[in-house]
Amino acid sequence: MVDVLKKVFLTPPEISGRVREMADEISRDYAGREILVIGVLKGAFVFMADLIRALSVPCRTDFIRAASYGAGTESSGAIVITKDVELPVEGRDVLIVEDIVDSGLTLLHIMDTLKSRNPRSIKVCTFLDKRKRRKVHFEADYVGFTMDDGFIVGYGLDFNEQYRFLPAVYVLEPASACAQEENG
Ligand code: IMP
Ligand code: MG
Repeated sequence: MVDVLKKVFLTPPEISGRVREMADEISRDYAGREILVIGVLKGAFVFMADLIRALSVPCRTDFIRAASYGAGTESSGAIVITKDVELPVEGRDVLIVEDIVDSGLTLLHIMDTLKSRNPRSIKVCTFLDKRKRRKVHFEADYVGFTMDDGFIVGYGLDFNEQYRFLPAVYVLEPASACAQEENG
C-alpha cells in the first residue's frame, strides 16, 4: 500500500509570502537586538532556514530535539529532550521555531526547560498551528497558518521520515498508521 498525498494545502509561493511577512514582523519586534533562534528538530529546519534568511536583525542559531512516546500520528504526553541546545540561553532573546503545534505538549515542555535557564525573553514562532487539538494551554507568539485537523507533510514535515523534502505542503492519507516514536 502507498500513502496518498490528497491535495496541496500550501503552495511554495503561499509559503514564501507568509514567511516573508512573519520575518518582517519578527524583525520589527526585535529591532536593535540579536535573537537566539532555536529550531525544534527535525521538522523546523526547512522553515527556519527560510525564516532566518528573511530577517533583518542578526541572530545566532541552535537546535533542540524532543521525543514523545505514542503511536501513529498522536503524541502521548511523556516528552523528553533527546538533543539539547549547545549555546547558552541565559540573558538571550530566545525565539523557538517549530514546524507545527498540535497537542502543545512538546512546546510546553521545551518552553519550561528553556525558561528555567533564565533567558531575557522567550517566544515561539510556528509555521502551522492545529489550535483545536490542544491538550494543554499553549499559544504561539507568531503563527504562519492555522488548520483544523488532518495530517500534513512537506516543507520539513514528515510522516515516518518521508516527504520532508517536498517544497509544498500536502494533506496526507496514510496507507497505514505506523508507530512514530520521535517527534519531527
Ligand atoms: P505536539 O506535542 O502534539 O504539539 O506535537 C507536535 C509535533 O508533532 C510536531 O513538532 C510534529 O513533529 C508532529 N506533528 C503534529 N502534527 C503533524 C502533522 O500534521 N504532520 C507532521 N507532523 C506533525
Ligand atoms: Mg516538530
